[in-house]
Amino acid sequence: MPEPSKAELRLCSRLRLTDGEAQDFLQALREGRSSRQALVLTSLTPPDYVPPFPCADASSWGWLPPGVIVPEDADLKSGAFDDYRKGFYYPLDLSSAWESAALSAVPVPASCLDLCAAPGGKSMLMLARFPEVVHVANEVHPARRGILRGNLRQCGAVRSEVAGLRPDQWAREEERLFDLILADAPCSGQSLLAKGMKNPGCLNAPMVNGNAKRQKGILLSVLPRLAPGGHLLYSTCTYDPEENEKVMGYLLKRHADLSAVEVPCLSSFRSSLCSFPAYRLLPRDGFGAGGFCCLLHRSFSAA
Ligand SMILES: C[S@@+](CC[C@H](N)C(=O)[O-])C[C@H]1O[C@@H](n2cnc3c(N)ncnc32)[C@H](O)[C@@H]1O
Repeated sequence: MPEPSKAELRLCSRLRLTDGEAQDFLQALREGRSSRQALVLTSLTPPDYVPPFPCADASSWGWLPPGVIVPEDADLKSGAFDDYRKGFYYPLDLSSAWESAALSAVPVPASCLDLCAAPGGKSMLMLARFPEVVHVANEVHPARRGILRGNLRQCGAVRSEVAGLRPDQWAREEERLFDLILADAPCSGQSLLAKGMKNPGCLNAPMVNGNAKRQKGILLSVLPRLAPGGHLLYSTCTYDPEENEKVMGYLLKRHADLSAVEVPCLSSFRSSLCSFPAYRLLPRDGFGAGGFCCLLHRSFSAA
């Protein structure tokens, strides 16, 4: 393996990886073969659905969310099947499904705002678990909003409202409160490397710090929309603690009415980089390219 760059070494050190772990991690980033596909079943999927390809037995994993199947063949062209065109499933990386497993610790919500929703994966995962929820799928970028709308429609999510407000505009929507907010935040996207995609500069400090600043701003803006007793699921597809544990630590410090919630089915993925419950997935875990999630609960009493 070529000598690691300064940025790679910095990331491995922030992740507190041993030399052996760092070598495996960097190899996974350079090889770019850590994607693993998952399919989210939709409201259009027949109740007795049998997929036309073999799927992995995930019963021993203990965390696979309801309505998610994992094709055995990681390179399966799931989009080429008629069932895809019929909207029976929505493909995404298994690490996205892993992140949404944190919703297992959330009581059934009446309403959900997916703040950063396009192209729609987290919304599909949430709807597979909570099909009756009043759902707003929000996306700031118009072109991506169009894709989101198309994906929701194709998968039968016709009751979902599609919105396009910026987080600071949500801050002023004083009439609206949600029991559940999904903040699958824009990030440096370091896990794209593990999928074999190009993402120049994603390990560099300016990119990471700039994203961390934006993530904090997004969360501070949307927090007023979280109902007392409600939950906020923060997730990213990047590895750097600056955009993950540090962002959550920042929020918890400023909002005494927030606490991080234990997610029992993710206990083996608990981050050792913070004292509160947060969860991280790396390519070595074998469940996709990796990611981070942390579930926050807002207490009923004002802080
Ligand atoms: C990680 S992607 C979301 C993926 C999506 N949740 C899914 O599972 O398919 C982050 C999204 O945040 C949007 N975004 C970018 N900047 C934003 C900002 N300042 N505030 C809110 N959303 C933003 C991007 O357009 C992008 O669609």
